[in-house]
Amino acid sequence: MTLPLIVGNWKMHGVAANLDEARALANALRVARAIARVAICAPATLVDRLRHAVAGSDIVVGGQDIRAEESGAFTGDISAEMLADAGARIVIVGHSERRAAYGETGADVCRKAAAAIRAGLRPIICVGESLAERAAGRASATIAKQISESVPPGFAGKDFVVAYEPVWAVGSTRTPAREDIEQAHRAIRAQLRDSHGIATDAIQLLYGGSVTSTNAAEILGVEGVDGVLVGAASLHAESLLAIVRAAPQRARRATDQPTVRGIS
Ligand code: PGA
Repeated sequence: MTLPLIVGNWKMHGVAANLDEARALANALRVARAIARVAICAPATLVDRLRHAVAGSDIVVGGQDIRAEESGAFTGDISAEMLADAGARIVIVGHSERRAAYGETGADVCRKAAAAIRAGLRPIICVGESLAERAAGRASATIAKQISESVPPGFAGKDFVVAYEPVWAVGSTRTPAREDIEQAHRAIRAQLRDSHGIATDAIQLLYGGSVTSTNAAEILGVEGVDGVLVGAASLHAESLLAIVRAAPQRARRATDQPTVRGIS
C-alpha cells in the first residue's frame, strides 16, 4: 500500500511569486517527506522554475494538459515530451474545465493519457459528473462512460492515476457525501477491473473538488480514496500543507507509522 498522493492543481494561476509558496512548502515537507507524496501541477511556464524551486524535496512537478502528438504544427500547444523535457513527471488530462471549455472528448483524453505514458509522464485522468447528470440520476452512467472512453485499453500495469472530480464540486464549496465518494470510487475500481483487467488494489484513485484543510481529513479517510486533487487550496503553502497533514489519518499503517511523527 502506498502513501496518499496529494496533488495541487494551480490552474491558470501562478507567476514567479508563487514559487515562494512552493519553496515554503518544500521546506516544510523536508521534515515530513514520508507522510504523503505531494505533486504540484503548475502552468507550463513555471514547470522548469518550480522544479528548481523545490529541488531537494520530494515534491513532484507536473503539468495540467498536453497535446497527444509528439511534435508538429500545433501553434500554442505543448506535447508530453516537451513537458517531460521541462522537468514534469506527472500531468493532468481530461480535467472537467478542459472538457467543458475546449470540448475535449473521452477519445481526446484517451490519446493524451497514452501520450503521457509514451513520454514517461504519469497521467492523472479526470472523470466526474455534472450537476445536471447527477440530478437526472445519470452520475454513475456518466462516470462509467468517461472511464471506458478515457482510459486507454492496455493500461493494465501502466503507472497512471484516476481522479474522481464531480464537476459541480470543482471550484465550489460543495463536496459529495462521504458515502457518495466511496460509492463512486468503488464503482470506478470495479469498472477498471472488468473493462481493463486492472486489479482493484493496483488502481490509484484520487478525489477532487473543493478539498480544503477543513474537509481533507474526512475525505482522505473515506474508504478507497488514495489521495486528493486540490485546486484553490493548493495555491498557498499553508493550506496545502494542512491538507498534507491530514493525510496520516488514512496512512496509519504499520509501515508508515515511524515517519508520521515528523509533521505532527
Ligand atoms: P478546487 O479544484 O479544489 O478549487 O475545487 C479542484 C480541481 O479543479 O482539480
